[in-house]
Amino acid sequence: MASAAEVAAMRRAVELAARGAPTTRPNPTVGAVVLDAKERPVGEGWHERPGRPHAEVVALDAAGDRARGGTVVVTLEPCAHTGRTGPCTEALLAAGVRRVVYAVADPTAEAAGGADRLRAAGVDAEAGVLADEAEWVNARWLTAARLGRPYVVWKYAATLDGKVAAADGSSRWITGAPARADAHELRATSDCVMVGVGTVLADDPQLTVRTDDASGVSPNGAGTAGRQPLRVVVDSTGRTPPTARVCDAAAETWIATVVEVGAGPDGRVDLAALLRRLYDRGVQSVLLEGGPRLAGSFLTAGLADRVIGYVAPALLGDGGRSALAGAGAGSIGDVWRLELEDVVRIGNDLRLTARPVTKEA
Ligand SMILES: NC(=O)c1ccc[n+]([C@@H]2O[C@H](COP(=O)([O-])OP(=O)(O)OC[C@H]3O[C@@H](n4cnc5c(N)ncnc54)[C@H](OP(=O)(O)O)[C@@H]3O)[C@@H](O)[C@H]2O)c1
Repeated sequence: MASAAEVAAMRRAVELAARGAPTTRPNPTVGAVVLDAKERPVGEGWHERPGRPHAEVVALDAAGDRARGGTVVVTLEPCAHTGRTGPCTEALLAAGVRRVVYAVADPTAEAAGGADRLRAAGVDAEAGVLADEAEWVNARWLTAARLGRPYVVWKYAATLDGKVAAADGSSRWITGAPARADAHELRATSDCVMVGVGTVLADDPQLTVRTDDASGVSPNGAGTAGRQPLRVVVDSTGRTPPTARVCDAAAETWIATVVEVGAGPDGRVDLAALLRRLYDRGVQSVLLEGGPRLAGSFLTAGLADRVIGYVAPALLGDGGRSALAGAGAGSIGDVWRLELEDVVRIGNDLRLTARPVTKEA
């Protein structure tokens, strides 16, 4: 049973892990805190980027001799393998810690087994402390590792009456500049940005990370290091015009057609196959930016892991496009309720984050 000091340290470790989130990919997002033998925090750290030390090692370095006989609290099971850096289990044993408390087990074949290795060496190891919080901060990596497909976030901007476009198809802009800047940061920290061909034909978006945008968007660009996410247009028959902005030279683009990816049961692009193809080329996270039809297919296929809706205090009324198509509930008894995870006011808009739970039959 974890002590109050260990739970508090885990809460801090989750906060620390979040600092690395924009830069750790393809590695996990991990934070760690060292408690001395009297359970006082004496060192902390987080994994910053590939090739840099793991969180436990940073925290142990900060703690120095004070780690001896103490406890290391870490958001992910310490790794037992040698990658670009040595195994964390060996660093923990060398530091002489008595106990290791971690939140989530490592699901990968090559790095798992850290807790067993520690126990075999006489270190007390406890799992599962604040697991939900630690899952949240490392969702991209854990989803990819467990499911062999990228972590998918569906992001959209809607009016208070749930519309993402007016009757004529126009949708720029529903939310204000601060919300759009926030959404832009999601793009900057994703491996891939995806839309359906319907959005390309209606909006002609460029789908790049821009540092200076006439719309007032000014992302901090954290972690992009000049890198642009892969742009994917889901386009069964290749209707994307070669002159579309998404086809410019600013970033790599993949027009994913049925011929290349295969067809799903409805004859359109097979989304599960598409995600597998992306995973195979190293994509761990997809920001799905539209539109209602593609989002409907992802949601109903159970392939969306998070929904981030920016909601503006504005109304479009009759004729406007609703955020989701093809996933309609016939009656209120069939409503699809999601698990609300976070609500933030951004400028004059709200950002809601929710997790789809399996829709009951
Ligand atoms: N406010 C916002 O956040 C936001 C964001 C995006 C878009 N929008 C608005 O949404 C409107 C466009 O809506 P939309 O629904 O046409 O766009 P979409 O979802 O981006 O594109 C839909 C198209 O994707 C293709 N597709 C290929 N495989 C598919 C699959 N498995 N499932 C579903 N679609 C598949 C289909 O065309 P093929 O069969 O030809 O392949 C389908 O018609 C525009 O008015 C735009 O302004 C708003």
